[in-house]
Amino acid sequence: MLAVSLDGRLAPPAGGAAQLGGRGDRRALEEALAWADAALLGAETLRRHGSTCLIHAPDLLAERVRQGRHAQPPALVLSRSGQIPGDLPFWCQPLQRWWLTPAAPMPPTPPAACSGWHRQLGFSSWPQLRQALAAEGLQRLVLLGGAQLAGQLLAAAQVDELQLSLCPLLLGGPHSWLPASQSLPPGQWQLLEQRSLGDDELLLRYCRRPLPGD
Ligand SMILES: NC(=O)c1ccc[n+]([C@@H]2O[C@H](COP(=O)([O-])OP(=O)(O)OC[C@H]3O[C@@H](n4cnc5c(N)ncnc54)[C@H](OP(=O)(O)O)[C@@H]3O)[C@@H](O)[C@H]2O)c1
Repeated sequence: MLAVSLDGRLAPPAGGAAQLGGRGDRRALEEALAWADAALLGAETLRRHGSTCLIHAPDLLAERVRQGRHAQPPALVLSRSGQIPGDLPFWCQPLQRWWLTPAAPMPPTPPAACSGWHRQLGFSSWPQLRQALAAEGLQRLVLLGGAQLAGQLLAAAQVDELQLSLCPLLLGGPHSWLPASQSLPPGQWQLLEQRSLGDDELLLRYCRRPLPGD
């Protein structure tokens, strides 16, 4: 799920955190996190934002606890380099931090008071990762960005639903929500939901139509 401008950008021309969405988008984001077993994000998104999204709404937190789940879904961070600065607020957020990595370098050292990575999981392909996560009981995944990960997951046909919050801004610049260089398999998407989020924002939810032979 992503918040995008009317011209399909997820960050301003200079890059970095855009804070595109308003209150309605925040609620939709927290609802998606409340549904999820885990939230996936690229290391660049984490480096740019410094932290990941948490559920704050008391009703959503209470419902997760009632279901016997952790209040927050674990954050799964994909990184080759493992370069996540140790002073980011991320390291002190109240959730589990999993590092998904194709290699096995030593984890970066977080501040002493924080708990660092809880798990490290090998990554060789998106289908392999989905299987490995399912084996850990993590089946409902929400992608929090950014564009590189969205492009790779779509290219690997590993996205079941697209949820875009269309925000009333024109940003311009190179940061489309999919990398311009990313080639994608053919496919059509079926509209499941269109909902006003207030503040001139529109939520669009699509599911992937199966291709012949799927
Ligand atoms: N509007 C929104 O809803 C929204 C949401 C999220 C992000 N954003 C914006 O998106 C931008 C960041 O997006 P991005 O596309 O530049 O980066 P990204 O997708 O967040 O992360 C890219 C990083 O992920 C790691 N990675 C990617 N593919 C990998 C693979 N196959 N194996 C191992 N590691 C892999 C690499 O980390 P290492 O370099 O550590 O190896 C890579 O640098 C920021 O400007 C952010 O503000 C917007």
